[in-house]
Formats: sequence, C-alpha cells, structure tokens
Amino acid sequence: MDREDLLLEVEEITKRFGGIVAVENVSFRVKRGEVVSIIGPNGAGKTTVFNMLTGVYKTDHGRILFEGKEIQRREPGEIVKRGISRTFQNIRLFPDMRVIENVLVGAHIKTGYSFLSSIFRSRAFREEEDAITLRALKILKEVGLYERRDDYASNLPYGDQRKLEIARAIATGAKLILLDEPAAGMNPQESSELMEFIRLLKGRGYTVLMIEHDMSVVMKISDRIYVIDHGKPIAEGLPEEIARNQRVINVYLGGSQNAVEN
Ligand SMILES: Nc1ncnc2c1ncn2[C@@H]1O[C@H](COP(=O)(O)OP(=O)(O)OP(=O)(O)O)[C@@H](O)[C@H]1O
Ligand SMILES: [Mg+2]
Repeated sequence: MDREDLLLEVEEITKRFGGIVAVENVSFRVKRGEVVSIIGPNGAGKTTVFNMLTGVYKTDHGRILFEGKEIQRREPGEIVKRGISRTFQNIRLFPDMRVIENVLVGAHIKTGYSFLSSIFRSRAFREEEDAITLRALKILKEVGLYERRDDYASNLPYGDQRKLEIARAIATGAKLILLDEPAAGMNPQESSELMEFIRLLKGRGYTVLMIEHDMSVVMKISDRIYVIDHGKPIAEGLPEEIARNQRVINVYLGGSQNAVEN
C-alpha cells in the first residue's frame, strides 16, 4: 500500500473503562477513496473506536494517524477541522430546525470567522455567509434533499434524516466520514437507497469508514472489512474472505464463546 494513499492509520489502540477493556490493540487502515467497514457483535467496541477517532475518548494506548499526523491527543473540534466527521448510532439532528439549517451548522465549523466579525457583519463575513449557504444548498442537491430544504428535520422520513446527518457531516468539509450503523432501523427499500447513496459519496471522492450490522449492505459496498469481538481484532479482508472466514461465522452464529482459533 502506497503511504501517500493512506488517509487513516490506526495502530493498536486500546480503551479501558474501569475494569472493562472495551477496545484492545485494534489496528486498521483506510486508503483515500475507500469504503471500509468495521463489524462485530453488540458491545464489541465499534462505537468506542469511533469515539477515539473523533477525540471524544482519549486512547489509553496506541496511535491514530490522519494524513500521516498523530491525532490521538487532539480535541474533538480540532479533529473535525482536520477533516474527520461522523454520524451517530442514534440520529442526532436539530429536530426543530429546518433541513438547510441543520446543514449550515456543519458548514459553520469550517469558517475561520470570529465572533466580532459576525457582530460587525463585515463585507467579507457576508460574502462568506453567502458562500456557505450556496455550498449547503449544493450538498443538499447532492444528497437529494434540496426539495425538502425548508422542512423541519423532524418531519423527514427516517431514511432522509439519516441522509441529512450525513449531509451535515459532509458540510464540515470532511475528507473522512464515519457512519455509525447508518442502516439501523431502515426497511429494505431505505437500506438499498442508502447503499446507492454511499456509492455516490465514494464516486464523489469521499472516504467512508462505516460500522454496520446489516450484512447485505456491508458485503455489497465495502472495499475491505475489519471484524472485532469483545474489543479484539479477529479478522480482516475482502468481503468474500470475511463471508467465508470460520472465526467470523462462529462469532455471528454461535456466540463468541464458541469461536474457534484459526
Ligand atoms: N463511556 C463508557 N463507560 C463505560 N463503559 C463503556 C462506555 N462506552 C462503552 N462502554 C463499554 O464498552 C464496550 C463496547 O461498547 P461499544 O458501544 O463500543 O460497542 P459496539 O460495538 O458499538 O456495540 P453495539 O453494536 O451495540 O453498538 C461495552 O461493554 C460497553 O458497555
Ligand atoms: Mg455501537
């Protein structure tokens, strides 16, 4: 793998909560333009990995490199500015705000304008505001929510709320988008639309790291898959390799206590 192509390198990260080791020595890599998935049973440590990538939790051990630079000790706000943005396992939108306003919240993270310039509403500030609004509208067109831009977020169907969350993540200027169970709670029609949508993001040059339980989604759109169980890495490979990996099959079918070593 050419180092230049690597967007994210995670080296043996560990996170403990008191006596619980939620994540232990997990390593993975994401190349620019890839869709990579992290899978594993409930409580495996997947969301904890995302929380470390976004600076919500500090790692107890290990390194996280984004574009070759260590970020494991950075604060969440700085990590977003560097280009990592996420969605949440339980949708977190501003339900009483309009669709466009939800996207603008993401877009504002990108601006360097100070509070004072917003008071004096300098010409540069106003131009920046116009540019941000145009960009937000463009993103809404990209994700297919332009027609609903003035609706309240809470009035969108579930699948569209997920898309709006992704739109907000894109609006921060993210290079790497982390999706925590984007297909959760979706019907088959919605999850197949979501798959098309993630393909579209990939086609537009975005890099996606996704946690997902819906195997039909994972197997169809992932370039590579990493599997963790009880916080530990147990397999990695192409979708077809993961689908026939005996250890992975055992974890999913038999409960991890029965997993055989291979
Ligand atoms: N803030 C916390 N404090 C204490 N324990 C935590 C905390 N966050 C996570 N854990 C524990 O760490 C382990 C991994 O949790 P995590 O949420 O990362 O799993 P997950 O793979 O995302 O599971 P799911 O598929 O159910 O979302 C669990 O045992 C969980 O209870
Ligand atoms: Mg989770």
